[in-house]
Order: sequence, then C-alpha cells, then structure tokens
Amino acid sequence: MSVRIKTPREINLMRQSCHLLAEVFNELAKMIEPGISTWEIDHEGEKMIRKLGGVPNFLNYDGYPASICVSVNQEIVHGIPKRNKIIAEGDIVSLDAGLIYEGYHSDMARTIGAGKVSEEAEKLMEVTKASFFEGIKNARSGKHLYDISGNIGDYANSFGYGVVRELVGHGIGTHLHEDPQIPNFRVKKSRGIELKAGMTLAVEPMINAGTAEVRWMNDGWTVETADGSLSAHYENTILITDDEPEILTIIPGMVC
Ligand code: MF3
Ligand code: CO
Repeated sequence: MSVRIKTPREINLMRQSCHLLAEVFNELAKMIEPGISTWEIDHEGEKMIRKLGGVPNFLNYDGYPASICVSVNQEIVHGIPKRNKIIAEGDIVSLDAGLIYEGYHSDMARTIGAGKVSEEAEKLMEVTKASFFEGIKNARSGKHLYDISGNIGDYANSFGYGVVRELVGHGIGTHLHEDPQIPNFRVKKSRGIELKAGMTLAVEPMINAGTAEVRWMNDGWTVETADGSLSAHYENTILITDDEPEILTIIPGMVC
C-alpha cells in the first residue's frame, strides 16, 4: 500500500475541487423537499458540477449510471436516481457525490431530512455527523489511521447503532479511491499507517439505526440495511496537517 503525500500545488487543486463540490452540495441541500424525484436531484447536480467547471467522477465509475448517489431511508449508499422515485415528507435522503477539477477528485456525502422527520431519524443523522468529528479528532500527523476509525465506531456504537463494515473511507487525489482504506470501526491489533501532513482522505461513516448488516440489491448498486432500519452517511474530504485537519469540503456559508 502506498499513500502519497500531496505537494503544495496538488493540495491547492484538491482544495479548489472540494470547494466547488461544497457549493454543489449547498444547492442540492435546498432541493431536498417532499415531491422532488431522485432523478431531478441527480440532473441538477450534474448540471451544477459541469457549470462550475468540474466533471462528475461517479458517472460511469464501474458503470454507475449517475453523478449523484441518492439513497433514501433504509438505503445506505449507491442508490440510483430514478424519475419515478419521489421523496416524501419525513424521508431521510443521503446524497453522495464528487467531481474532478484540473485532474483532482473531491468526494462528500450528507444525509438530509425532507420536511419534518422523526426524532429517531434526526438523532441518527446528528450522531452520524458527530461520529465523523469524533474520528477526525485523531486526524493529524503523528497519529495513526485506525485512531480515526476507532473513534468513529466507538462513538456510534455508544448509541446502540450499527456501524457499516463492508464499505469504508479512502485516500483521494488524482483518483477517487486511493490507498489507504479507512474503516469506520475499531481495528484490533493494528493502529494502521502513521498519518502525515499532505495526505488527503475521504472519511465517511455510514451508520444504521439497527444492526450493522447490509444487503445488496438486484440493481447491482444499492446497498440497504438488512433489517430495514434507517441509515445515515456523512463524508468530507480532509487534508492532514501538523495541526487540526483542514476539512476541504466545508466552505463558509455551508448549509449542510
Ligand atoms: N460513494 C463512494 C465513495 O464515497 C463512491 C461511489 S462510486 C459510484 O467512495 F460509482 F457508486 F458512484
Ligand atoms: Co468516498
């Protein structure tokens, strides 16, 4: 496994790529209302990515047919947008997308409620986001990769939630998925690689209200909770530094 340290020039391009993606998410978040189809979300998202000068990196990735993954309620990730899939009041909608700008990839995800959602759903979304921030308390040079993983998993488990194990975070840069893989649970007997300033990582807890078990749907993409419980996803691309990490996919005025 080789984890490349980005040069200052590359970090600048990563930052630009991520800031553009954050702009896209700010607009997408406002669209999440009862009545919108998941296809419209993808359609608008792709348009925005291109208008800002980016190229969608999920589109055609291993044959994935859209630019924005839209996963609703018990769907964890990789939901395929459809014209006849309409968001209803109380749904929780996970958006996952990325773009390429000047050869550099960005990647982020948010789960957003449509209209008024249940307290259970609200809490799941909050804890999932908080688990990311617990994790990145350990994201700085000199710490080890699985210190991030362990913090995420322990935090989510402390609420009785199931932490998805089949899907993980990843390095990111000139490719969407680079080394290392970043689990969201405590890894026994290993601390993982030592973190170094200049690493760029996509940290992305996927947390289920019920058990951790998943099932793959027949469309070849959608991953759901095995028990039908709700699931939430929160992802940012971050830069490791000698101090606090820089969260590249958060910009001032962020609404999500
Ligand atoms: N969501 C994945 C990630 O965050 C990438 C999805 S690729 C796609 O790493 F093809 F499913 F879109
Ligand atoms: Co990712």
